[in-house]
This record gives sequence, C-alpha cells and structure tokens, in this order.
Amino acid sequence: MLYLYKLDSMYICIEGIDGAGKTTQCKLLKDWLEENGCRTELIGEPTQSPIGRLIRRILNEPSLPDDDQQKILGLLFAADRLLLKDKIEKAKDEGTIIVSDRCFYSSMAYQEPEDWIIEINKFAIKPDIVIVLDINPENAQRRFEGLERFEDRSFLERVRKKYLRIAEENGFFIVDANRGVNIIQDDIRRIIAPYLGICR
Ligand SMILES: Nc1ncnc2c1ncn2[C@@H]1O[C@H](COP(=O)(O)OP(=O)(O)OP(=O)(O)O)[C@@H](O)[C@H]1O
Ligand SMILES: [Mg+2]
Repeated sequence: MLYLYKLDSMYICIEGIDGAGKTTQCKLLKDWLEENGCRTELIGEPTQSPIGRLIRRILNEPSLPDDDQQKILGLLFAADRLLLKDKIEKAKDEGTIIVSDRCFYSSMAYQEPEDWIIEINKFAIKPDIVIVLDINPENAQRRFEGLERFEDRSFLERVRKKYLRIAEENGFFIVDANRGVNIIQDDIRRIIAPYLGICR
C-alpha cells in the first residue's frame, strides 16, 4: 500500500446522534491504534469536569429540548470544550493520537443558531478527521430500549439531517452505523489506516 503522507499525531472525532455507537466505536478504535503502536488518548464530550457534570444533569431531565435549553447547553458545551483545549494541544505536541467521542460538530448539529454556535466556539480546536456514524433514529432508539432515555424522535431526525449536511459541506467521512459493531469498526479503521501508515 502506498501512503501519500503519514501523520505522527492526529485528532480524530467520532460524531453522530444519540445511540449511533460513538462510545463503542471510540473504544475499539483506541484498542486497535494501541495494538499498532500508536500512543492514544480517549477524550469525550461532555467532559468529567464540573461543567460536564452540569451538562449531563440537564440532559438527564425528562423535558423536550426547547430553544432556550439548547442555547444554554450550547454555552455550557463551549465552556466545557475549552477545558479540553490544552489537553489536545499537549497530546498533539507529544505525538499522541486523540480519539474524541463528540466534539465541536455536536454543538453544530444539536444547538442553534449556527452562526452563534460558530462564534462561541471560535477558540475550540477542530479535529483533523471527523467520522459521522449515520444511523436511522428508530434503530438508534431501539438500542436504548428499557433504559430511561428521553430523546424525541423528530428532534433526532433533525439532528441527523444536520450531521449529513455538515458532513457534506466539510468533506467528513460518513459510515453507515445501522450495521453490526465489527463491520462499522472495520470501515473506521479502513478510513484511519492510511493517515497513520498502518498496514491492514
Ligand atoms: N452497531 C451496533 N449494533 C447494535 N447495538 C450497538 C451497536 N453499537 C453500539 N450498540 C449498543 O447500543 C447502545 C448505545 O451505544 P453507544 O453507547 O456506543 O452509543 P453512543 O453513540 O455513544 O450513544 P450516546 O450518544 O448516548 O452516548 C449500547 O448499549 C451499545 O452496546
Ligand atoms: Mg456515548
């Protein structure tokens, strides 16, 4: 296999609606990168910081995500994301691969208005590669059956469409996440391998 270039460090983000399989895929990706000799760090949003904990508390309230709540979440996510900035910069300097479970583009997909979201996130570090796990909301919600989760189907439909538009506008990779865990992971590895000079 011919590699056009090989990166020593990289900030990879896995995106997608709730239940798309981001956390599952990030962990598998980290394991594989480490098996291939890459120092890897897993990060995620919201973080484990007090701001991240506040975000989780709001997200766990059984109310529909109305406009004001989404704006407040947008601000909190932007603040929480700033806490990751130094960590990402340091990791990149040290040649570490960062695998991120969500990033700035989650705010773009979930919160509004778009120009304001861009403005309040202008200091956030943008990933080198974004992979959007695209899933039918019905399939995603089925994965949470029996659990106390409150996402509204039509809201998730809107978020999914936004992800697809953002992916198209920015040339992001889109992976069909309606399939089995291993097949999806295989597609993700196939996307990442050439950037890091990993033979498959
Ligand atoms: N490809 C898959 N097929 C079936 N079930 C899956 C698949 N991927 C993940 N799951 C299961 O679906 C549930 C949600 O997966 P996961 O937590 O990885 O999604 P997520 O995108 O991180 O969700 P959230 O946005 O809520 O954090 C988990 O129970 C997980 O085991
Ligand atoms: Mg998750």
